[in-house]
Amino acid sequence: MTVLPITPPSETEPRFQKDVRGFGTRAVQAGAPHDPVTGAVIEPISLSTTFAQTSLGRPIGEYEYTRSSNPNRNNFEHAVAALENAHYALAFSSGLAAMAITLQALASGSHVISIADLYGGTHRYFTKIAHTHGIRVSFTGLIEVDVRRLLEENPDTKLVWIETPSNPTLTLVDIQAVAEVAHEYGVYVVVDNTFLSPYVQNPLDHGADVVLHSVTKYINGHSDVLMGVTAFNSAEINERMSFLQNAIGAVPSPFDCWLAHRGLKTLHLRARAANESATAIAAALQASPNVQSVNYPGLSSHPQRKIAVKQHRKGMGGGMLSFRIKGGRHAAERFCQMTKIFTLAESLGGVESLCEVPAAMTHAGIPRESREATGIFDDLIRLSVGIEDTDDLVADIVQAVDAAIELSSDETSSGSSTPSDVVELVV
Ligand SMILES: Cc1ncc(COP(=O)(O)O)c(C=O)c1O
Repeated sequence: MTVLPITPPSETEPRFQKDVRGFGTRAVQAGAPHDPVTGAVIEPISLSTTFAQTSLGRPIGEYEYTRSSNPNRNNFEHAVAALENAHYALAFSSGLAAMAITLQALASGSHVISIADLYGGTHRYFTKIAHTHGIRVSFTGLIEVDVRRLLEENPDTKLVWIETPSNPTLTLVDIQAVAEVAHEYGVYVVVDNTFLSPYVQNPLDHGADVVLHSVTKYINGHSDVLMGVTAFNSAEINERMSFLQNAIGAVPSPFDCWLAHRGLKTLHLRARAANESATAIAAALQASPNVQSVNYPGLSSHPQRKIAVKQHRKGMGGGMLSFRIKGGRHAAERFCQMTKIFTLAESLGGVESLCEVPAAMTHAGIPRESREATGIFDDLIRLSVGIEDTDDLVADIVQAVDAAIELSSDETSSGSSTPSDVVELVV
């Protein structure tokens, strides 16, 4: 059964023209027209839910009703399309709404191939909700190796879902290698690019068909907006997804679009600062005797460093990293209590640095066995590196690791009670 109107795309011209200017210029200028009435350099926030018409079905401008289209959303979508080298972008009320609507664009009976090492909320949707509208999802830990076999075994496959780097183990996927195989079978590839942002990686340039972001993270960058976005080049995908954007109505408010657009204008500066500090922190962690292993694609020791060099701007590692502390779960918990600059909190990609323990927080909903199979052990700590001074951030991490190990060993030798059970949260 087909759930969507599969009509041929009506547009001949793509919605947005490709913008070939430098990234910073696009970030500041794309979708940022001066107000034609007042000349205001910064766009006003269009809170009106409805727009006047001169006669039946003849709106004064291009807008009718804000769920269908709104000036702030339009400008934000234009800016994201420019940064992802896309002809189309569609904004949603959250990253998960963008993901759910992408899956709902598939006909009932479709099959999806996904990486196993996935953001917990996406995993929850794939395993607990997708089947209710007739979508089956298969997971693989080795997508480059398994994709052809899974496509052969599942002729109803319509989508391959990739997160690269994965969350929280920073495993990379070679987008081009997977897309080449998927396209042989007429299957679309979606890449969740939340962890790197369009500044570090542009999946469409490597063969992906759709790129998705939790705007909540790097694109907005200030931890004060919940939003999602998809970008792509195909008029056919636009036909399906823009229909659903309006029909389901999981759209962001004009104010959130305005805030996210403001945040996006400094993405290049924030992403560079976070990358620089994350690189320094990864090196310091690697040198620490109290650390078992460090996952950071910017390190030459990262097992897939070659993919980072091929796919990421200047081979950057980005602002996210994770590491396994010695001393187990209690040391990980202690670490998060000992940091003075890094705040213990979920989420990522903001100007402020955050730390968390995925096994007990963002990934607690995934059964232990599956979690550990993808490297998410109880002692794994995830860091979202902000834009504070590099030296302060490195010093904070080093002191917190050392203090956590010292405290954990004191507790063990004195036989004192272990820390209380971590409350398991799944956001
Ligand atoms: C990689 C990734 N994708 C999607 C999401 C979901 O985004 P949102 O929280 O905006 O719904 C998140 C949230 O943490 C994420 O980390």
